[in-house]
This record gives sequence, C-alpha cells and structure tokens, in this order.
Amino acid sequence: MASTLFKQVLHTDSRPHPWPLYAELRKEPVSLQDDGTYVVSGYDEVSALLRDPRISSDGGKAAPDSRIGANAPAPGTAPVFLARDNPAHDQLRGMAQRHFGPPARPGFVESLRPMVEELIRDRIDHLTGCTEFDLVSEFSYPIPVRVACHLLGVPPEDADTLGPLGEESVAGPEFLVDPRDPQAAAAKNHAQQELATYFVAHIERLREKPGQDMLSRMIHDDGPGSPMSLPELLGTATMLFVGGHETTVNLITNSMLLLLRNPEQLARLQADPSLADGAIEETLRLEPSVHLRPRVAVDDITLGDHTIPKGSSVILALAAANRDPRRFPDPDTFDITRPDTSHLSFGAGIHFCFGAGLGRLEGQIAVRELTQRLVNPRLSQDPPPYRPMPDLRGPSALRIAVDDVRPA
Ligand code: HEM
Repeated sequence: MASTLFKQVLHTDSRPHPWPLYAELRKEPVSLQDDGTYVVSGYDEVSALLRDPRISSDGGKAAPDSRIGANAPAPGTAPVFLARDNPAHDQLRGMAQRHFGPPARPGFVESLRPMVEELIRDRIDHLTGCTEFDLVSEFSYPIPVRVACHLLGVPPEDADTLGPLGEESVAGPEFLVDPRDPQAAAAKNHAQQELATYFVAHIERLREKPGQDMLSRMIHDDGPGSPMSLPELLGTATMLFVGGHETTVNLITNSMLLLLRNPEQLARLQADPSLADGAIEETLRLEPSVHLRPRVAVDDITLGDHTIPKGSSVILALAAANRDPRRFPDPDTFDITRPDTSHLSFGAGIHFCFGAGLGRLEGQIAVRELTQRLVNPRLSQDPPPYRPMPDLRGPSALRIAVDDVRPA
C-alpha cells in the first residue's frame, strides 16, 4: 500500500494536489517501499533524521542500483557540500560561508536588499498596462536568477542563457530518474556540462579581474583551507547558482497562489504589509519549494517501530512533515499569522539551507510589493500547470488577471 502511494506521489498527475497522498503516507511515518527505499513522512521523524549523523547526504554511499544511486558530479566538478558528510562538509561550507554571512560577513545578505528591491520594482513596472500576465515568466523566475547572477558576478545579460540550463540540470533528479533511461540522464548531464563550461570560463575571468562578488572573493581567498581547487569552486558556484534560484522561483509563485486562493488572508496582508514575513513562512510550510530530499543510512537507525537498516536509501518527505497534524493544528489551513512557523522547508542540521536568509528576503519583498501594487489580482487558471519534478515542485506558469498596476 505505502509503495503504491509513494509511486502515486512521484507520478506527474499528482503534482497539482499531492496532499491527500502525503496524508495517507503519514499514517505510516516510516514506510518501506518495494524497491527497498524508506520514505519518512512524519514531522518528528523527518526532523530527527535531518539532524542524525547516522544518515548521509552522499549519494555515492547508496547502492548503485537504488533510487538514490551515485550522484556523479558533472565532469571537472568536485562533490558539493550539499552532498558531503563531515568533516568535508563543514570545511567546504565554511569556506563559502565566510563570504556570505555571519560571523565573518554579518549584514551581507541585508546589504543586498536595495538591489533586490530595485529588481522587483522594475519587474512590476514592466507589468504596467497588462490586464493578465504569467507571474512565473514575468516575475518569479527572472528575479532569483538575476539575484543569483549578482551574487556570483555573472553579467545580467547572461541570465537568460544560464537560467534554463539551471532548470534542465535539476529536471531529472537522480533518485527519481530511472537509471535505465539514458535519455533523461543525458539531458541532465548535457545541461550540467554546459553550466560547468560557462563557469570554468567565468572563474578564469574573475581570477584575472576580480569583482566585488562572492565568487571573486572565494577565488582570491587566502584564509584557512583556501584556496578552493577549481573543481571545488566550480561545484560551489553551480550549486549556489542553481540552489539559489530554482527554489526561490517556487516560493514567490506559491506565495501568490496561496494568497489568491485565500482572499481573506490577501486582504489582511494588503491592509498590513508587515505581515509579508508571516505570509512567506506560511507559504514555506504549506507549499514548500523542496518536497523530497534523498539520504543514505550509514548505520542501523531505529525510529519508533521501524529499524532502517544500514545501507538503505531514504527519502525525507519535507512537504508531508510540514502538514503533520501531530505538530501543526489545522495543518492544511493557510494562516499568515500562525504562531508556530517551525517548518522543515529549509532542512535542518548541518545541511540547513545556506541561502535561507536570501530566499526569505526575496520572497518577503516580492509578496509585499506585488500585493501592494496589483489592483484586484485574481487567478485566471486554478490549478496552474506544474513542472514535472516531484521534489522541486512548483507551477510552471501562474496566470493572474488584474484591473491595474499601481505605480511604485
Ligand atoms: C526559498 C528558497 C530556498 C529554499 C526553500 C531552500 C531549501 C533548501 C533545503 C531544503 C536545503 C537542505 C537540503 C538537504 O538537507 O539535503 C537547502 C540547502 C542549501 N541551499 Fe537552499 N533553499 C532556498 C534558497 C537558497 C538560496 C537563495 C541559496 C543560495 C544563495 C541556497 C543555497 C543552498 C545550499 C548551498 C544548500 C546546501 C547546504 C549544505 O549542504 O550545507 N538556497 N536549501
């Protein structure tokens, strides 16, 4: 039964409304699938495993024929810290972190606020005169791609080429692609290769002529553990580029989808823009950008009645955990003033999202400005079409009709 359910979750037909399936799955918070994978869907169980050192993020430790399999990095790219365990994880993450946030660079993310505000103001200005538009292509997608480019010193004119490559490079996540489907794997590898080729040349340019961006600082860093090797720089840069925008696109789109489906919550936010922070946290909980994350058990792990044997592939269903009624009262209700915002949408433990502060900043400004400036916004199509991926789940388009767009 649990196996059939999880297969249904993965099926593209379930993308618009996977929630009843997740609710069924949660009845057995740790469930064994017929291919030997364990799917974990309860809040307490997912939260515990995210922090458990007996669980690995290194796909290379999974059986090669498992759903998770070896996640081979693109040629010339070192395994990224997202897919590494300690001590290598902390060492690599530390080398990137000191150019991004506290303690070495406090206030950096906040210093990006004026740039993000300007980007968002400009994109909404572009909508002036429209009575209907696609939020994803006109707004949710271009904003995070340009922010990620800014972070890495990529010229804004390259954003339109790199953005689609980023999307293709995650289109067939390794734990869902059928390893026997060479076509799916080839498309993904091709996009990864193209991204790597771009970033090798870009890193060389920044070596010669550094800018003020984070990647230039990583290249020229002479702190502990530095310099990063070229494969490490390449892996980190492409991970920051892809991880920095693919998720935030979904956050912005999902926040508007939820607000337009819940007009009384939209009215509260319009009356009090300071509720934008709460609207973003509640969107993250209810419609997370990342639904599923892969892991490997490197020891026997007992959770309640189940022991996950050493060597097993494990899928952590963050999206199911966020709606666990044992944790959140009224879990399916969208409430932008919900007091408990301890969702798992940025993960937890050593892999807690590196860019959570930036993702939140972009989401908060976007939702505040859109709800202040769009006059009488409403959904033209509900449910919207979805991207095929079950893990990075989000609408591929969101058509919104408006009466007018107010000036900034
Ligand atoms: C709404 C926005 C975002 C969401 C929902 C999100 C979600 C996540 C999640 C769930 C993880 C944990 C993965 C795991 O444990 O396997 C993660 C890790 C990570 N995220 Fe984000 N992310 C967002 C924005 C960003 C941004 C803007 C950046 C870059 C600036 C970023 C970079 C990373 C990196 C590098 C990791 C790996 C951290 C590690 O392994 O130590 N993310 N993110």
